[in-house]
Amino acid sequence: MNLVENLKWRYATKKFDASKMVSKDELQKLKEAVQLSASSYGLQLYKVMIVSNKELKEKLKPAAWGQDQLTDASHIFVFCNYTERKNEHIDDYIRATSKIQDTPIEKLEGYSNLIKQSTSSKSDVEWQSWSQKQTYLALSNLLAACAELKIDSCPIEGFEPEKFNAILGLEEQGLNAAVIATVGYRSSEDHTQFRKKVRKPMEILFEEV
Ligand SMILES: Cc1cc2nc3c(=O)[nH]c(=O)nc-3n(C[C@H](O)[C@H](O)[C@H](O)COP(=O)(O)O)c2cc1C
Repeated sequence: MNLVENLKWRYATKKFDASKMVSKDELQKLKEAVQLSASSYGLQLYKVMIVSNKELKEKLKPAAWGQDQLTDASHIFVFCNYTERKNEHIDDYIRATSKIQDTPIEKLEGYSNLIKQSTSSKSDVEWQSWSQKQTYLALSNLLAACAELKIDSCPIEGFEPEKFNAILGLEEQGLNAAVIATVGYRSSEDHTQFRKKVRKPMEILFEEV
């Protein structure tokens, strides 16, 4: 399987070659892979900010433990979950489904109510956690798509969301930076690329019953 070979190739890149940028075409493919991510009920309760602006990257770096990937990578993907539970998210999705799948909106009312009931039964903490979880599926697709295109990446949780929110003006948009990833091309000096992968053995990771 190509996917497995590509996953063996990828690694969390620590040192990017700052002179290499991901092209517009390749970026478009990465965006498509993220767009096609599965999400609970299909709601996609997030937005993805893509940062390539040099000054902005410099500003974000100290808010990410000073990690060099922030400035050396070509682009930073900031996966932001919506912080407020709003029926608007569900209504937008139902309207889009009706239009794209050519289904009368009345036929989707039952599904709409089911989603509204299920989401309103969550506590605020559960809602936050749930909407953040969705971003990780998109992150995972981004990493796999990068690997397929031989673009390097590094998923990053080592950052301060409040500072990212302030720098990128996310709060005003009802957003919160949940997880980020840097993408670009590895530097030949990045020694981590030669490290063997450490993964749990199959018999410990899986149990077939
Ligand atoms: C959600 C998440 C957050 C991570 N945060 C960081 C980070 O802040 N900095 C970093 O250098 N690596 C980070 N990593 C990379 C992991 O350390 C790495 O994926 C793991 O050690 C496995 O190695 P590999 O991806 O190279 O196979 C993160 C990975 C994930 C999935």
